[in-house]
Amino acid sequence: METQGIGKVFDPASEHTPSIGRRNETDRHSSEEQDMKIVVIGGNGLIGSNIVSRLRLNGHETVAASRSTGVDTLTGQGLAQVLAGAQVVVDVANSPSFEDQAVLAFFQTSGRNLLAAAAAAGVEHFLALSIVGADRLPHSGYLRAKVAQEALIKASKIPYTLLRATQFFEFVEGIVNAGAVGDTICLSPALIQPVAADDVSAVLADLAVGAPLNGIVEVAGPDRFPLDELARKFLAARNDKRPVIADVRALYFGTELDDRSLVAGDNAHIGATRFQNWLNRPQTPR
Ligand SMILES: NC(=O)c1ccc[n+]([C@@H]2O[C@H](COP(=O)([O-])OP(=O)(O)OC[C@H]3O[C@@H](n4cnc5c(N)ncnc54)[C@H](OP(=O)(O)O)[C@@H]3O)[C@@H](O)[C@H]2O)c1
Repeated sequence: METQGIGKVFDPASEHTPSIGRRNETDRHSSEEQDMKIVVIGGNGLIGSNIVSRLRLNGHETVAASRSTGVDTLTGQGLAQVLAGAQVVVDVANSPSFEDQAVLAFFQTSGRNLLAAAAAAGVEHFLALSIVGADRLPHSGYLRAKVAQEALIKASKIPYTLLRATQFFEFVEGIVNAGAVGDTICLSPALIQPVAADDVSAVLADLAVGAPLNGIVEVAGPDRFPLDELARKFLAARNDKRPVIADVRALYFGTELDDRSLVAGDNAHIGATRFQNWLNRPQTPR
């Protein structure tokens, strides 16, 4: 089953999207924006590298920061230097470990250090990537950590925007393998609305050059699938013969799901890329 035609229009009047001075298209390439310095934390990751390319292509001074460039959000190393003179921070770092305690410690420590350094540097817009439904699934350690990250950002005095994305197409393989029980894949049949990382990055790059919304916006893919069906599509495309069993009690990263858990609201940005088309593309190594 695919559910199509989900609302395509981003409605700035929605409950998630306070309409605080979002810059319009005609303002986008103003000289003020061209002069902005944007720091992307996690700038060599899946999303980060995509955003950095997009922003640079549009002429924005953009710095990719992560441990590989000498910036560590856990120790604070390099943060003051890289944030000096920055107007915008885009936080798309991720925890190297998804274990419950480790991931919570990562997003809390990283968030505190980053927000303190951003405040000290006079950053005017803090933009971070979170996950659709994070606050609906408290039994998932990873999602609890994302909620903790969001709370730190909301509590800081820096104007912010939170983009919540659904699961990336690129993450479907990880979801499938997390459901492996021996040679069988056991997954919930709850609906999921995955999105291409490229489409998420496009929305983030756009938000980065806009005014802070001081609220949450969502992005999701154009189709909804029962998770077990999505796994079958993925495995068939990879010629992987493992059978997939649907089980409503199957845990998704520590939590049971229902049809609302992983699905975006009516006002979400909707990515253009369809899962089947993405699957059919030649695989490019990351
Ligand atoms: N996967 C999904 O389906 C999904 C859905 C919605 C939202 N998200 C969110 O999307 C965000 C980005 O995910 P992604 O898949 O693009 O991540 P990723 O490819 O794993 O990249 C993670 C980045 O974080 C950096 N990093 C790790 N530890 C760091 C530290 N201590 N200090 C500074 N940088 C550090 C890494 O670079 P170095 O190793 O060089 O430090 C890398 O650039 C995450 O916050 C995730 O929660 C993911």
